[in-house]
Amino acid sequence: MSLEQAFQALPPDADERKVESIFSKPFLNALGFSEEEIVPGFRIGNWAVDQAVRKNTGNDIFLHTQKDPYLYMEVKGRLANLSGEMYPDYRNTVLQLKRYLLAPSSKSVKWGLIMNSLHVQLFRKHGKIVHPVTSCLSLEGDLKQVVKLLRQHIESPPRALTIALYNNKGGVGKTTTTINLAATLALYKKKVLVIDFDHNQSDLGDALNLSPLKNKVLGVLKGKDADIRDIITPYRLKHPSLQEPLGFDVILADEAFAGELDEAKLRQVLKLHDLYKSLESLKNDYDYILIDSPPNWRLFAQKAIYAADVVLIPARHDNLHSLQNASTAITQFIPEMREKRRVIKESGPIVLPIFMNNAPTNPAPFQVTLMHNAIVQIIKKSKKEAGFDLTPYFYPKYCKGKKNLDMVSIPYMAFIPRADFMHMPAAFAFKPAREQYKNLVMEYFL
Ligand SMILES: Nc1ncnc2c1ncn2[C@@H]1O[C@H](COP(=O)(O)OP(=O)(O)O)[C@@H](O)[C@H]1O
Ligand SMILES: [Mg+2]
Repeated sequence: MSLEQAFQALPPDADERKVESIFSKPFLNALGFSEEEIVPGFRIGNWAVDQAVRKNTGNDIFLHTQKDPYLYMEVKGRLANLSGEMYPDYRNTVLQLKRYLLAPSSKSVKWGLIMNSLHVQLFRKHGKIVHPVTSCLSLEGDLKQVVKLLRQHIESPPRALTIALYNNKGGVGKTTTTINLAATLALYKKKVLVIDFDHNQSDLGDALNLSPLKNKVLGVLKGKDADIRDIITPYRLKHPSLQEPLGFDVILADEAFAGELDEAKLRQVLKLHDLYKSLESLKNDYDYILIDSPPNWRLFAQKAIYAADVVLIPARHDNLHSLQNASTAITQFIPEMREKRRVIKESGPIVLPIFMNNAPTNPAPFQVTLMHNAIVQIIKKSKKEAGFDLTPYFYPKYCKGKKNLDMVSIPYMAFIPRADFMHMPAAFAFKPAREQYKNLVMEYFL
């Protein structure tokens, strides 16, 4: 049966069993997987995902060996609404898929699909991160087009995860965290590119003793007669104890974009998607691309968020504005950019739990109470005004029955600003700082 015939054969209220028996196989066939590359009811510990697939290689027939699955598909009935985030069915199915993708026995899996024969959405797994790649695609229109789009992603998985560090507030640790995440990921042998997109401050280059670029970035963003590889500067630490120099690559800020720029004029020359486009050719060269953004919501911050797979937001316990700004970014700014990515049938970035930078090691109880009270007010306000529940972004371990208020944090450490004076990431210079950033990397990424 062809995919179109299978689609026509399904009644409007087809339950999960019907969708499974009539539609799943033709759909996976259309995605390029043959009979012997598909295992229904694939076991993951005590669970089972509806479908698992992987290309056969030589004598290794996936149906027989059932080893190293590549993609999981969780199937639902037509009455389960998978058309958007506002539907509980959608949210529960995504949670279910995430559990499967992150299970210890799913190491080899790169992709996940949720599908009910009316809608389908593709998710990618990168280390500990699971993020949506496409928007929720309707299968009621041009089926062939949707299949083609999914295949393009699945058949050429990009290597890099793109992370934007953002808070509309300055001084919260965006630049410091960008540099130290890059250094720590490099310690784990990951290949990392860092982009200083805060052209006004260019603190990132300063912290590494690298001078800003001069009139180089515009050409790259415009995609004209300029290769992005030509503006990459390697930052390497040489030390007798190291077999090879350790470090990461950097695209420095550009002086041409510093100062008070005319935003309207800039928008005539530059496009929202140009950073995203410029990075495409680098996505197989790096494991991580980190973008340090400016503390505002103007063009360069928007480009950084538009280009990202995930956004990481640092905030400070003692700075109310940084907490409020985190909330505005999550409920307004980032959804704006997701909306723009949906135009090209992509999902746009997800937001990781906020982390508290500069947290006191032994905080006075009143300080802790002050912060939690402020956060509770922020959560209440956004629930009331925008119907948006910020709880998981502030308290990632909080759930019904377990009111755990633990937050992700990096403590205040004198080593961290001291490393700036040495023009070196603190994670390279000082072991205690390294330990803290290793925790952060393990919490989010590895
Ligand atoms: N965890 C920390 N402990 C101590 N100082 C920190 C910490 N994180 C950042 N800093 C310092 O705070 C200042 C502001 O950080 P920065 O990364 O420049 O913020 P942003 O990029 O958000 O403006 C810098 O001097 C930096 O060294
Ligand atoms: Mg900065």
